[in-house]
Amino acid sequence: MQTINRLEDLRKAVDALKIGGKTIAFVPTMGALHEGHLTLVREARARADHVVASIFVNPRQFGPTEDLDAYPRRMAADAALLEAEGVAVLWAPTVDQMYPRGYATNISVSGVSDVACGASRPGHFDGVATVVCKLFNQVRPDVALFGEKDWQQLAVIRRMARDLDLTQPYADDIIGVETVREASGLAMSSRNQYLTAQERDQAAQMSAAMRRAIAAIEGGAELEQSLDTMKAEILAAGFTSVDYGDLRDADTLETLFEWGGRKARLLVAARIGAARLIDNMSVG
Ligand code: PAF
Repeated sequence: MQTINRLEDLRKAVDALKIGGKTIAFVPTMGALHEGHLTLVREARARADHVVASIFVNPRQFGPTEDLDAYPRRMAADAALLEAEGVAVLWAPTVDQMYPRGYATNISVSGVSDVACGASRPGHFDGVATVVCKLFNQVRPDVALFGEKDWQQLAVIRRMARDLDLTQPYADDIIGVETVREASGLAMSSRNQYLTAQERDQAAQMSAAMRRAIAAIEGGAELEQSLDTMKAEILAAGFTSVDYGDLRDADTLETLFEWGGRKARLLVAARIGAARLIDNMSVG
């Protein structure tokens, strides 16, 4: 595996990987890799001749009071994991490479970015859309893989790819991979490291409450009542607050006031200890 920090070197490496019409699958990450990321890499290997992964803790997607400085960074251990999974190139740019002096462009995907996590993290999805667009232009992949754990992020990136007519990758080649969970049901996340052992047990109850709500909604229970019960159960489990717990259209993320059998997603964000955890599941 080649680890590359300079854009000119990445361009040469990507050109070399593409010789003979070979394809590239891309897995962008912020590092602190866990089984969820490695699942993306394995899926990427099944979809293309070569895998390129990136590690870049993107400052533009963190708010001024968020955990940019505390965000776990373990480049050497992450690189070893990626190499063991058969990644060809690790793209690990510096902040100056990504945003050189004079950098001035922002990509903002309105609508889908403004609700749920976008409402409580202003500017977050602009930062995500901007860096992912740049990463796509740098790596020029045939296919890119993202975890469904960040469902809203996936929706924003797909919307951006459609709206900007991206071709590397095309919007249809932006693949969502099912959330990887611990045996307890807790969705894997780099931010789970902020939890104590007790909080980890409590956090696992969020997914259980979500599953009960989905069973109720699919069984015909009143939506608002089902969501209220779910939020109360999450608080009773030890979470200090629930930022949101909504049923939304799976693509546009519009709020649904009744399910009506459509392709929908239950999205939750809640705080426990030092962590703000998100999770989502399909309904229907
Ligand atoms: O999901 C992440 O790790 C990040 O938001 C991403 C997509 C790598 C952009 O920084």
